[in-house]
Amino acid sequence: MLSREEFIRNSLELNLFFQRIMKEHLFFIETALPAAESDYIAEADGLKRGFEQLLAETVSYTERTNISEEAFRSDEFVTPYTLQAEKTSSRLTGASLDMDITRKKLDLFSISEYTLSQHCLERDIFSLNTRSLSLLDEVIAFQRRLISLALQCEIFIALYVELLEHVTREAVYYRESLRALQNRRLAQRSFCAELNFWNNIMGEHAQFIDGLLDPTEKSLKANARMLAENFEMLRERCRETGRRQMLQRSLEATERIRNFKRNAAIGLLECEIRSIILPLLADHVLREANHFLRLLEGI
Ligand SMILES: [Fe+2]
Ligand SMILES: [Fe+2]
Repeated sequence: MLSREEFIRNSLELNLFFQRIMKEHLFFIETALPAAESDYIAEADGLKRGFEQLLAETVSYTERTNISEEAFRSDEFVTPYTLQAEKTSSRLTGASLDMDITRKKLDLFSISEYTLSQHCLERDIFSLNTRSLSLLDEVIAFQRRLISLALQCEIFIALYVELLEHVTREAVYYRESLRALQNRRLAQRSFCAELNFWNNIMGEHAQFIDGLLDPTEKSLKANARMLAENFEMLRERCRETGRRQMLQRSLEATERIRNFKRNAAIGLLECEIRSIILPLLADHVLREANHFLRLLEGI
């Protein structure tokens, strides 16, 4: 049973990370659909705005004191590249992004709009979580609909089906964590289930990057493939590898892919890499690596 303070801290940290991740998935979907799919574009845009509102609310509740030092330092909520990546990605695609939320987060939550008692905060966050859960249900259903339409060749979307499945798995993971928090506990996942989930996510990122780089970017592509193989091996061997060794290897592999993604984000922003990767996608997967690193350090 989580205490009131633990409930508040865990909810804020989870939402600060995942609400942004969710709205970016919708941004990627919105910008990957052709003009013929204007109804789905509008639907993705509406869901994205819904998560932006929830994220703005989460930020308004967040003070320096009610999230952990580790989360604060992890660069999983925003990185030094997020705002620039948003500006560029929004300008290049014409799709909107609420960048004020990012600016506020860069202020390190110094301006809290609410000074609430812990009791009121707990009540407000419970309501925020409930609303996040119902929007998540809609997002998951929407993404699954797109997957099945894409599989039946009823729509064209410039995203791999595997990528749509990947973002949906992240949404389901977030939903499980939120549901547990609403019952005042943490999601129960075995050591290998947790590690395999994130090692698989990291490996798929490497595969997506490989597939979205220009064929001429040979050395970056080779690097991405090597990273992908490394994560695949980790996933296959979790059950037969000792806990400490598994943690250490996952940590090393994730640090490597984090550095690779950081360089990719910088290279894309500086227009030095040929690809069909939006800078915001590079920053997005960088934040997911930072999140996994904090998780690994906390196990
Ligand atoms: Fe994601
Ligand atoms: Fe991801």
